[in-house]
Amino acid sequence: MALVAFGQQKMFARPIPALLHALLYVGFLVINLEVFEFVLDGLLGTHRVLAPTLGKAYVFAINGFEFLAFGVLISCVILLFRRYVLRLARFTKPELKGWPRLDATLILVIEMVLMCAILTMNAADQVLANQAVSPYLPLQTLFLSSQIQPLLQGWSTEEVLILERGAWWFHILGILGFAVYVTFSKHLHIFLAFPATWYSNLRAKGEMESMPEVTKEVQLMLGIATTSEPAPSEMGRFGAKDINDLSWVNLLQAYACTECGRCTSECPANLTGKKLSPRKIMMDVRDRVEEVGKSIDAGGKGLEDGKSLLGDYISKEELNACTSCNACVQACPISLDPLSVILQMRRYVAMEESGTPAQWNTMFQNMETSFSPWKFSPSDRFNWAEKVKEEEMK
Ligand code: HEM
Ligand code: SF4
Ligand code: SF4
Repeated sequence: MALVAFGQQKMFARPIPALLHALLYVGFLVINLEVFEFVLDGLLGTHRVLAPTLGKAYVFAINGFEFLAFGVLISCVILLFRRYVLRLARFTKPELKGWPRLDATLILVIEMVLMCAILTMNAADQVLANQAVSPYLPLQTLFLSSQIQPLLQGWSTEEVLILERGAWWFHILGILGFAVYVTFSKHLHIFLAFPATWYSNLRAKGEMESMPEVTKEVQLMLGIATTSEPAPSEMGRFGAKDINDLSWVNLLQAYACTECGRCTSECPANLTGKKLSPRKIMMDVRDRVEEVGKSIDAGGKGLEDGKSLLGDYISKEELNACTSCNACVQACPISLDPLSVILQMRRYVAMEESGTPAQWNTMFQNMETSFSPWKFSPSDRFNWAEKVKEEEMK
């Protein structure tokens, strides 16, 4: 979590968006210190309550906040540019139509407006301070917001005062409103990136989670069970058909997904024109959770609404297109695991519905009888090595 979430380590696989994001990330963390002062002023009825105590350090800090605010502003412009002008492939996929697209745009625009409010507020604040209006304090030079001050020339003191107070209220209400908006948005990643990374799968990639009940039964059959306890006679469902069959980590990850599409942009199935998009898998899980949650809140049927994640959101065609290569997990900047959802759902299709494509049945049969996907006797498995040995002896 320290490296991947706090340190943004995996983001830097793509340095340009990583740098732009780092500005947003640091800007958010640092500028919130200024918001802390906003809140103190609001509660105590003061104005720039920390300025007298911090002296020159205060001016230094406000200049720092302004440069960061400007950096955030520029980053948002570039991020919008690559979405709407450069139209990067990962932002033009079908699953991003509608709300996800609007959500991504709103987030960037709201951030820009909030940053403009800070700069405007500081500019108006200093115009009032220069006119010796109480309680405004002159702060020596604020390098960036002082560039806005000429625009306020010719404004009456009352007008500047309204602008300054307006920007203050706008910023504080904007931040509180945004904090609520975030809970409906993919922007929830600003909080959930941390727990999602903490609970990410650290096992070797390619190691698939087996079902303990099945493993035990097989071990008993082969006579290698480590315990004499019999396998449970009644088992739960094999694999996952709906969200209640997935683990809470799967659901947490769905809410942490930033819909960045790095997974999809590296998915061999998606790149070769198949319907599968690992980003869509994460979005589908979240959408289904939302649907069930809303239904429960409204006293509806919840999970028993006749729908399920399999079929109504994710098709067998998508599940079958996955090569289990783990490229999506590797590419995800917060190590989310769309493959885990796919494997659990495919397990359901194979074991509960016997619904895998007919071409796979030969492979399953071979696995059962020859312990490998090919129809060779297990005793012939090392024949190739004998041949190599013979070659070497020549
Ligand atoms: C805590 C403050 C954070 C803020 C203010 C923030 C802000 C943002 C914003 C505005 C976007 C949208 C960019 C776009 O639409 O093009 C974004 C995307 C993203 N964020 Fe964050 N973020 C924060 C934390 C994190 C953390 C801790 C991570 C973990 C690594 C993270 C990972 C991502 C990823 C992967 C994207 C998608 C980037 C892409 O499209 O290439 N963010 N973030
Ligand atoms: S594991 Fe499946 S979904 Fe993920 S990148 Fe590979 S093929 Fe795509
Ligand atoms: S799963 Fe990860 S890589 Fe894929 S869209 Fe979500 S955050 Fe991005």
